[in-house]
Amino acid sequence: MKNLITFDNVGVRYGSGSEILKDIKFELNSGEFMFLTGHSGSGKTTFLNMINGSIKPSRGYLSVFDHDLSSINHKDLSLIRRKIGIIFQDFKLLNHLTVYENIALPLKILKLHAEEINSRVIEMLNWIELYKMKNVYPCTLSGGEQQRVAIARAVINNPDLILADEPTGSIDSAMANKILSMIEHLNKKGVAVVFATHNMDFLQNTTYPVAFVQNHRIQVYRKSNSES
Ligand SMILES: Nc1ncnc2c1ncn2[C@@H]1O[C@H](COP(=O)(O)OP(=O)(O)O)[C@@H](O)[C@H]1O
Ligand SMILES: [Mg+2]
Repeated sequence: MKNLITFDNVGVRYGSGSEILKDIKFELNSGEFMFLTGHSGSGKTTFLNMINGSIKPSRGYLSVFDHDLSSINHKDLSLIRRKIGIIFQDFKLLNHLTVYENIALPLKILKLHAEEINSRVIEMLNWIELYKMKNVYPCTLSGGEQQRVAIARAVINNPDLILADEPTGSIDSAMANKILSMIEHLNKKGVAVVFATHNMDFLQNTTYPVAFVQNHRIQVYRKSNSES
């Protein structure tokens, strides 16, 4: 399997502050699913932001999709970002656009043909079971519905990697389970996932590896299925 993400001895700080994350060694293979957890303020969002190239490491080596992020140019960074779908706790939908328009936006930016955009948006609307809501504005939807729209927007361009930053943090538990199973469905089709969460049900019942952020360091726990 191929490494999508490699951190080797990475440290990161904001401005002249002390290091938020230290000595990070971390690898994610293509198609792999990993949970990321740790208390509030431990550095989960910082870690995800390094992967999408919006925060640079202060030291060490970080590559994503075979690009060294410390020396990457703008063009390559925007190509990498097209392969990454990001989902946030607070959805970050555009409230002046309809559900349909929010989901279509990434493809509009890529200037795809209108018919192509339409067929892909409709496919997404059916997948998230919100076809009937296509012409409403996000603020009229429940949190779980808004998150489904945000997922559709994040994956309409077929990313190879999903970064989910506490996507179920403000959603009731039945809908949280549904959101997780939608992302698992994408993973089963080959999309790699880093899923930051505090949800103990998810973390206790999973067979996926879990990366813990603690004392500025990240440790990955894997359940071994080949005990010898
Ligand atoms: N833009 C920033 N400037 C300075 N410090 C920041 C910035 N963003 C986050 N931090 C600090 O970095 C630490 C980790 O934050 P964050 O990555 O958001 O943690 P988490 O997502 O686990 O809650 C916190 O102490 C936070 O205050
Ligand atoms: Mg965070």
